[in-house]
Amino acid sequence: MTMRFLRYHRRMQPQNLTELLSRLWHGADYNYEQWLEFPDVLHEDFRLMNLAHCTAMSVGIFSWAKLEPREGQYDFRWLDALMDDLHGHGIRAILATPSAAHPAWLSARVPEVQRMNHLGQREPHRGRQNFCRTSPVFREKVTAINTLLADRYKDHPALLLWHVSNEYGSTVCYCPTCLADFRRWLAARYGDLDGVNRAWWTTFWSHTYTDWDEIDPVDPSNNGLLLDWQRYNSDQVLDFYRMECAPLRQLTPHIPLTTNFMRPDVGLDYWKIAEHIDIVCWDSYPEWHVHDDVQTACETAFYHDLHRGYKQGQPFYLLESSPSQTNWQPLSRLKRPGMVKLASAQALAHGAMGVNYFQWRQSRGGEEKFHGAVVAHRGGENTRTFREVVEVGEMLAGMPALAAARTPARVGIIYDFENEWALGLAHLPRKVNKEYQATCIEHYTAFWRRGIPVDVINARQDFSKYALVIAPMLYLLSEETATRLTEFVRAGGTLVTTYMTGWVNESDLTHLGASPLEAVWGFKLVEYDTFGADQAGQVMCTAGNTLDLIGSARCGRFADLLEPTTAEVLAVYARDFYGTQAALTVNAYGQGKAYHLGTQVDEPFLGAFYEKLTRALGLFPLLTGLPHGVSAQARQTERQQFLFLMNFTNQTQTISVEETATDLPPYGVRIVVKDVEII
Ligand code: GAL
Repeated sequence: MTMRFLRYHRRMQPQNLTELLSRLWHGADYNYEQWLEFPDVLHEDFRLMNLAHCTAMSVGIFSWAKLEPREGQYDFRWLDALMDDLHGHGIRAILATPSAAHPAWLSARVPEVQRMNHLGQREPHRGRQNFCRTSPVFREKVTAINTLLADRYKDHPALLLWHVSNEYGSTVCYCPTCLADFRRWLAARYGDLDGVNRAWWTTFWSHTYTDWDEIDPVDPSNNGLLLDWQRYNSDQVLDFYRMECAPLRQLTPHIPLTTNFMRPDVGLDYWKIAEHIDIVCWDSYPEWHVHDDVQTACETAFYHDLHRGYKQGQPFYLLESSPSQTNWQPLSRLKRPGMVKLASAQALAHGAMGVNYFQWRQSRGGEEKFHGAVVAHRGGENTRTFREVVEVGEMLAGMPALAAARTPARVGIIYDFENEWALGLAHLPRKVNKEYQATCIEHYTAFWRRGIPVDVINARQDFSKYALVIAPMLYLLSEETATRLTEFVRAGGTLVTTYMTGWVNESDLTHLGASPLEAVWGFKLVEYDTFGADQAGQVMCTAGNTLDLIGSARCGRFADLLEPTTAEVLAVYARDFYGTQAALTVNAYGQGKAYHLGTQVDEPFLGAFYEKLTRALGLFPLLTGLPHGVSAQARQTERQQFLFLMNFTNQTQTISVEETATDLPPYGVRIVVKDVEII
């Protein structure tokens, strides 16, 4: 029985969370166990860590085979030495549980710890994160080692934070234990098989289930089934994480817990998982200098804001970033001078409480031996990378007050995982390239370019602190979310929605009759068209519209055909048989307004739309006249504002701060600290 951990009550905050959040941290993944036969290297490492102003190192992540070389025979001596050495050098430990890479002897003795594919074959032992999350033996072994770790280091002064496993993914397992667990999860959600059949509309193609064992999550024609399978796998990861945490919580209630997240497309509902961790950590590997750096910077900013959002604005920890290159992306170019500091500053600007790298020292062998590191194979501190890492350390040490500063956003963009999964699974007139994440980023870009702070938010959260909520492509819209959006507008909020909004409910069943947002929108959604990559439509603003929008724009991807009831039409389609019909509308509802963009408009038009709208709402940029590629972000306390000005181009850019012209060098950053009275 696996899902038991999900039902535990909320607990008190660990005491040391306050300490963790009160400072800025700097460090790296330190694979000490790879160098035990090289005492000089280890000695040198601590000297270099102090030079680089390192304050927190992630340790023990892939060390299970060193900690338990034979089943039941544990060896903690090397970890004791590491913890003591860290402490001796004034450095804290982000201590990992080792489940991400289990020893080969375990798979050999108990093949059931390995995942099973959908043809019923066990996967061989290889790589990492290759275990079955419901295997009772695997869970038992993880609990045993986590208990020993917690017991041994519970009073160790170096212990700062638990790093539970590493980058959990949603890789699925079709073994009988997982399938039985999935069926139990369904029974808990729907009560009985009738409930399941109703939710999944299984009369379609005669898919009605008469026995739980008939449910096999491999059928793409049953969208509801696969959506629930995805939800289940995300919950299974959460349950596994909570199982790992149980001994840690029990033996070290004062130590906070985290697990490192990745970019949002790994099939996990991070909003839900974040409720069970103490701080959000994430691993960011932008492909700098491969594509357009300005676009890369904007996407990275979106991901940082998303990670700040998971715990409603609480600072997050950038737990992994490459100080130079990676060796797993199709192409990874050397970071240009300034880029390590700029990328680190960008994370801080968006709410980070620390910057760590993968990895401290380059491995000598194995798949990652040519991945970048703070210390290269050649060793020593006389490298460009090391010098930049030192600069980051100095930057962090130089502004301790930033730890208490938060992001002053009044705009929220909804990013919803269940929606993303449901859209991905749906067979629509546009079957591929639905571009949910890209669309969210397109809307986000309009604010990033103007220097207006944004929170990336959850569809399930309270919207009342925002002046403007943007819900791009919220295809899966439960009645409950629709009601909260409606209330938000009624109470004076401004809502922006787009094409493909509100088609299905949480079971992926279409809403019948009126869309749940129709009253707020003030139009009926009657039909929709879609465009190929090389087909474009056009929209044209109506004369004298209340937003003062002018001109026309290229449009694509999708076109809602709307019949306004009470909405004002701000722009119409200018082509095809639906030319002259509404494409962009606004409807006054209660004290607020709801805008709807029925089609994907080009970037200048979307920018102009948000320019007018933010002005009308009194949401002003942090700095006006930002050159292309320069981003302005702020964090503030009650007394101070930290204004980050970041140049993501390879050209010097001139900006004007408080009427003084300042040059930002290529990939340069300037942080202006101002005393402010914030109301
Ligand atoms: C991360 C992972 C690290 C390392 C790194 C390389 O995703 O957590 O262990 O493999 O990638 O970039």
